[in-house]
Amino acid sequence: MVVWSPLRFNSGREMANRFAMAPLTTDSSNEDGTATEAELEFVRRRAAGGFGAAISSAAWVAPDGRSWQGIGAAHDGHLPSLHRLAEALRAAGALAILQIYDGGRIAKPELIGEQALRAPSAVASLRPGARTPRAMTSDEVESLIARFRQAASLARKAGFDGVEIHGANHYAIHQFFSPRANQRDDRWGGTLAKRMNFPLAVAEAVRDALGPKLIAGFRVTPFEAEADGYTLDDARLLCSELARLDLDYISVSLDDYRKARPAGETRVYHGPVEQRNTPAESPITAFARIIAGRCAVMASGGIKTCGDAEGAITLGADLVAIGRAVVVDPEWLTKVRSSSEASILAGLPKDEREIARALSIPPRMVAYLLSRPGWIPRL
Ligand SMILES: Cc1cc2nc3c(=O)[nH]c(=O)nc-3n(C[C@H](O)[C@H](O)[C@H](O)COP(=O)(O)O)c2cc1C
Repeated sequence: MVVWSPLRFNSGREMANRFAMAPLTTDSSNEDGTATEAELEFVRRRAAGGFGAAISSAAWVAPDGRSWQGIGAAHDGHLPSLHRLAEALRAAGALAILQIYDGGRIAKPELIGEQALRAPSAVASLRPGARTPRAMTSDEVESLIARFRQAASLARKAGFDGVEIHGANHYAIHQFFSPRANQRDDRWGGTLAKRMNFPLAVAEAVRDALGPKLIAGFRVTPFEAEADGYTLDDARLLCSELARLDLDYISVSLDDYRKARPAGETRVYHGPVEQRNTPAESPITAFARIIAGRCAVMASGGIKTCGDAEGAITLGADLVAIGRAVVVDPEWLTKVRSSSEASILAGLPKDEREIARALSIPPRMVAYLLSRPGWIPRL
């Protein structure tokens, strides 16, 4: 089966199989952005299943872009913690990849200060209770790109095998690409070509900081389900430009890979999901076609069995990322590998104390998981 075969990236790094542990925020780091032992244990236990690659939770590149209490990759003081994180991710032989992000308009005011919210334009997110950010100056845009560069260089110094740029799920890079969030009329916004400039500049800076031998990946939401959002055709063009920049992979972020459903900005998971712009063709297939082998394609969203992973590969993916399935069952990959899928845990235990204890999930993360009804299955 393809899923158990190795994959060699453009940079020369090789994954032993096609399974990646998806980036999973624990909301459980120390306030200064250093990793806690509990979150390292969360990662270590799951990576022990033998993933080909393990991607970290998203690390903030700038303190005023934090959307939760996560790990930081912003200055030399973060290096020892990043080093420990890389070691935990690769404990069972996985390639260790650091995901980096900025929250933009969905940074958390309680963490960054009520007045600090800044984004491409002064347009509030659709999330309930969202505050209106102020528009960044062009100097601020340039310095945010420099922050991403700095984070990539810290990842290299800390011993990671690569970096994934979080360009998906409505965070700052996604906001620069979105015509809903970005209403600028300078070189960073306006036309589709100008809305691509920020994601492309970040990708270039990251590749430059990593050098040619480390993995550079880019995660993208393949289209916006909200009215007036960017379309699959827009995102295909972005990916085609990204593929020129010596990337190793593009990760297509979906909530459900079969239904071509991306994560909505409102983060409401119960009740019917409103969705517009649904493409006729799977975004995974559309991306694979335009990328045409120039880099690998990673797919994610609702993969719970080996058959699902093969299904995503049949649609055109080269590798898959596993999120909720491995949150709920830390031994998920071991069970898949030994054809014991019948014993995979299908949801979090009813008893909240049991969730933390039995599954090595940090207590703050348990609260985070339970904060959005319908997001994570319960037994
Ligand atoms: C608890 C949790 C935290 C997440 N944190 C991140 C993150 O830091 N970065 C990211 O790109 N996606 C994040 N995601 C999204 C997952 O990586 C994944 O794309 C999504 O959950 C869909 O895949 P799945 O059905 O396999 O979970 C998170 C998802 C969950 C459930």
